Amino acid sequence: MAAAGATLVACGSDDGDSKDKTPESAGGEKTPASAGGDKSPTGTGDGKTLGPIGDVPVGGGKIYDDAKVVVTQPTAGDFKAFTAVCTHQQCLVGSVAAGKINCPCHGSSFDASTGAVLGGPASRPLAAKQITVANGQVVLKPA
Ligand code: FES
Repeated sequence: MAAAGATLVACGSDDGDSKDKTPESAGGEKTPASAGGDKSPTGTGDGKTLGPIGDVPVGGGKIYDDAKVVVTQPTAGDFKAFTAVCTHQQCLVGSVAAGKINCPCHGSSFDASTGAVLGGPASRPLAAKQITVANGQVVLKPA
């Protein structure tokens, strides 16, 4: 029953031969010429990127539901954009084909180049939207 707990505290002899190895930091002042590099991307007009231009076929178009915008490319490199909200009863247009933007709700169709009404019941054209193409992306300009 004699549990003599002998606690040995080993004092590690700290005889580290720390030689002074400071290499003479050759007083070369190496301040990298941080010539005020302004790298903040200048958000060109806070446009909303819709997607790659490759999504917009020549002679057809692409409907961006979230942005409620339809982008068409009547001829190669010529992009047009219109509201995707039908002027009849505010359905979202459903397709672009054969130069027409078509509304699935009641069958209205609009010219994919101008937004003009081609077939009712809608009587007013789709309003044009402003877009730009930057870095291969279609960007919707702020209204
Ligand atoms: S809402 Fe588009 S045709 Fe009626």
